[in-house]
Amino acid sequence: MVARSKPSLLDGAAIGKEGSPDEVIAGSAGWHVATADALDFAEALPDACAHAVWTDPPYCSGGYTESAKRQARGMITHKSVKSMGWFINDNMGSAGIVWLLRCVAVQAFRILVDGGSLGVFCDWRMVPLLAPALESSGLRWQGMVIWDKRAPALGTGFRRQHEVVLHFVKGTGVFHDASTGDVLNVSRLHHEARNHQTAKPPEVIERCLAVVAPPGGLVVDFFTGGGSTGVAARRLGMRFLGSEIDSRIAARAREAIRAQSTDARRVGKAHQLGLFDGE
Ligand SMILES: C[S@@+](CC[C@H](N)C(=O)[O-])C[C@H]1O[C@@H](n2cnc3c(N)ncnc32)[C@H](O)[C@@H]1O
Repeated sequence: MVARSKPSLLDGAAIGKEGSPDEVIAGSAGWHVATADALDFAEALPDACAHAVWTDPPYCSGGYTESAKRQARGMITHKSVKSMGWFINDNMGSAGIVWLLRCVAVQAFRILVDGGSLGVFCDWRMVPLLAPALESSGLRWQGMVIWDKRAPALGTGFRRQHEVVLHFVKGTGVFHDASTGDVLNVSRLHHEARNHQTAKPPEVIERCLAVVAPPGGLVVDFFTGGGSTGVAARRLGMRFLGSEIDSRIAARAREAIRAQSTDARRVGKAHQLGLFDGE
């Protein structure tokens, strides 16, 4: 898909610029959000192009019960899923989402550079199902990051206050910041700050990306939603590619990423590192 052309200079203008996926991969543009199915989008990306795949798939981000999952219809449209009629017709339960995400992890393994990372937000219930399925893609399970929302949600008993990010690496992980622990204390977004029902605070993702990708590196999110991963990547002077199946939500993500300015210091560092000086 991509003819790799060497960009003359990765400057603030290039990293902040919306372009085609090919331009983003080549480094002559900073970001692109496609209205597309996750697996269709993933399959079109070249091998070893991304430093991190950081994603927040449907139903794995907390708050959904099995019965709520059973009520969901038509979220998944990829041809390989459609051919498995049981999946669509029986609605998406845990087995379905595990199957989909295992397919995504196989693609992540292919598109990540050696040492690159996959991060998947998920609900605690999914951990024992999802972790081995994702690891069977060839990626190695490196650990878990806990997002502590600093205040419990509604409910009884031990009211839920955290979400999990499962972290995998391709081979031996390459990391770019050693100052971050695996518990991130960040308040959940207030309603008025959200552009998506399950929006994550960009700060949570920003702190993760700073560890797993270099400035100027390429971050991919197959389930972009309102664009928090793109916003975080752009803040850090990283390139971003995202797919979102719902065109109205994809438009909101583009708006949010467009509105976010890029950290020029990070872009300068990427240039110093020679990230685009001929790979
Ligand atoms: C949990 S949300 C992501 C929220 C996002 N992290 C944010 O902070 O706004 C998951 C998103 O995946 C999208 N989605 C569901 N199935 C998809 C598929 N097969 N391909 C691409 N996107 C999909 C949904 O429309 C939803 O917006």
